[in-house]
Amino acid sequence: MSQFVQSIIYDNGAVTILDQTRLPEEERYEVIHDLAQAIDAIKQLRVRGAPAISLFGGFILVQEAFRTIGTLAEVKQELLTVSAQLLATRPTAVNLRNVLDELNQLIVSATTLKELPVRLEQKALELYQTDAKTSRQIGVHALELFESGDRVLTICNAGSIATAAYGTALAPFYLAKEQGIPLSVYASETRPLLQGARLTTWELQRAGIDVTLITDNMVAHTIKEKNITAIIVGADRITRNGDTANKIGTFQLALLARAFGIPFYVAAPLSTFDLTSLSGDEIEIEERDAREVTQLAGKVTAPAGVAVFNPAFDVTPHELITAIITELGVIKHPSVETIEQTIGQQIR
Ligand code: MRU
Repeated sequence: MSQFVQSIIYDNGAVTILDQTRLPEEERYEVIHDLAQAIDAIKQLRVRGAPAISLFGGFILVQEAFRTIGTLAEVKQELLTVSAQLLATRPTAVNLRNVLDELNQLIVSATTLKELPVRLEQKALELYQTDAKTSRQIGVHALELFESGDRVLTICNAGSIATAAYGTALAPFYLAKEQGIPLSVYASETRPLLQGARLTTWELQRAGIDVTLITDNMVAHTIKEKNITAIIVGADRITRNGDTANKIGTFQLALLARAFGIPFYVAAPLSTFDLTSLSGDEIEIEERDAREVTQLAGKVTAPAGVAVFNPAFDVTPHELITAIITELGVIKHPSVETIEQTIGQQIR
């Protein structure tokens, strides 16, 4: 897995991230010294992507566990507070909640001060290693849906830097490259923060994968003119019926896929499922600072005081999703029933 740039590095209680806001110009790593800096890094998207945020959150909790002093009860209370603060950073992606729930259980059940950070560390490292394997498995299943020469469109960055390795929506392209299968990727730039332009093209180009950048308003024309064969995206939260929250703009891609009669795939690990929510109506959509829309690379592009709507995600109804690809396999025609059949017993 060494072909991948590591976006999160954990070493003996120390956490370092690749600052994703500086890509592609600069590969700068940032050592995370405290909780305030960690929270800021998540909110400012220096670390981003649903699985990566969750793995990072886990390591930060471990870092805090090694530093917190007090009685067992005091340390437990303090760590549960840290966990709640991490959880409040970004509301839409559910992976962080799923990881913190697991770590919180370890905190609550700890019986000695000595074992507490060690058990948390073991679990956080295990989750990190599992994520790389999980992502690869998603890629294996996704690749079965593509044919040599396919031209596949994606949005945002559901790539290796959004996970421990491989990514979710980008995983099949890494595997295709490994196996010598030619596939072309079209990356939609993903306004307002340009994860497609800055991150997806950067990591695919670096891996020698054929990638073409387009702006978001070129999608319909590109599907027609370049004969796009499928669309694949990542996910931040998938509810029991298969409704999927992902980067703003995903919903309109699904509508276009339906209009053109091409498949629309969602690639995500089980940790992206929220089985406590029945449908996408229950998903909280993060709204972000208006300046992300009124400025581009620090330059003002809209009149002062203009009203702005800046949702970071949208929800694609399950009816528009051809299949959800998980590490366990492909869930065709996602619904309460098909999801239950595939992952019902497996979900944590
Ligand atoms: O706001 P971001 O950049 O964190 O949004 C990321 C996405 O929407 C991804 O598609 C999703 O988190 C899956 S990453 C494997």
